[in-house]
Amino acid sequence: ADPRLLDRFGRTATDLRVSVIDKCNLRCTYCMPADGMAWLPQNRLLTAEEIRRLVGIAVRDLGVREVRLTGGEPLVRKDLADIVAGLRTDHPDLPLSLTTNAVGLAERAAELAAAGLTRINVSLDTLRADTFATLARRPFLDRALAGIEAAVAAGLAPLKINAVLLRGVNDEQAPELVSWALDHGHELRFIEQMPLDADHGWRRENLVGAAETRALLSRDFVLSPDPRARNGAPAERFLVAAKARPDVVLGTVGIIASVTEPFCGDCRRTRLTAEGRVMSCLFSREETDLAGPLRSGATDAEIADRWRGAMWAKPRAHGMDRPGLGDAGFVQPERTMSAIGG
Ligand code: GTP
Ligand code: 5AD
Ligand code: SF4
Repeated sequence: ADPRLLDRFGRTATDLRVSVIDKCNLRCTYCMPADGMAWLPQNRLLTAEEIRRLVGIAVRDLGVREVRLTGGEPLVRKDLADIVAGLRTDHPDLPLSLTTNAVGLAERAAELAAAGLTRINVSLDTLRADTFATLARRPFLDRALAGIEAAVAAGLAPLKINAVLLRGVNDEQAPELVSWALDHGHELRFIEQMPLDADHGWRRENLVGAAETRALLSRDFVLSPDPRARNGAPAERFLVAAKARPDVVLGTVGIIASVTEPFCGDCRRTRLTAEGRVMSCLFSREETDLAGPLRSGATDAEIADRWRGAMWAKPRAHGMDRPGLGDAGFVQPERTMSAIGG
């Protein structure tokens, strides 16, 4: 039998996202409630050693080729650098990246780079302190910007920056985000908001979709399709030039159109939650626990089998792109983005 993580629709998962903690130091409106979020107790979180064992199984037995650590906010986990170092010791050539909001990164970027982290993606939706405080419900823009600078200084550049545009909150700031990213050499990606918020406040009418984002940017920039192959990546990339000098390419910008142009057919992702459950899809209703078996003495082969079974049941697609959204078909999962890891 094929040892890899296959599903019924012909996809193979080679890209593992491990959530290392469900807590976060921000409260972004599209992801978390203002308060009252129930955290996993410490003893439910996978330990660094357990993460190391599960990643080992994924890489050695299941054909995973790339690992990304996520949260909540992964920097909230004190032993993050130990996790990175352990994975790097076991897998010297593994691409190993982090998705973070960069708050607290200033103090830890050097340590993480030294531990063997390859790459960082930073979530940053605005460059204005007042918008940041509204959107993230915490006044930490300066800390995030300091974290980004430290990551560059630690050699983790080029960075990818992820921004979610919310109508009436930061959508008008899309061009200034692009200018800033181009000036700093970061690859900016705009992400369509998905219905994974705690308050179930997502409305299709409020979605700033890929087409609208392109229109917003076209006021100041000329975008043309990036000829490089997309290779199953969630982002569609565009070359960017200033309107005044359309012949001079200044960099690229990406759009992750999860809702209006879904990329489920090319999905290569498998996910582990912070408490050690496999999620075959961001929108899975079913989760497969690996921590229980791991803690009661299961062998690597048994855990690998459970993981394969979980992925075999992966849904074909999320179904959010259907016009009747809200009435039929798509039902928002209970888990918020913060408890999945993006
Ligand atoms: P790179 O390898 O750097 O391109 O990483 P990435 O884009 O896969 O990772 P990142 O954590 O930066 O993800 C960016 C965003 O893409 C996530 O926050 C999600 O909004 C979206 N995304 C990532 N994976 C999926 C997925 O499997 N399905 C959907 N619908 N969206 C996803
Ligand atoms: N829709 C789209 N992206 C989201 N993120 C968090 N919540 C959502 C959502 N509801 C993004 C963050 C971060 C990544 C991990 O997920 O901005 O870039
Ligand atoms: Fe993959 Fe599910 Fe995301 Fe679609 S929604 S791209 S199937 S994880």
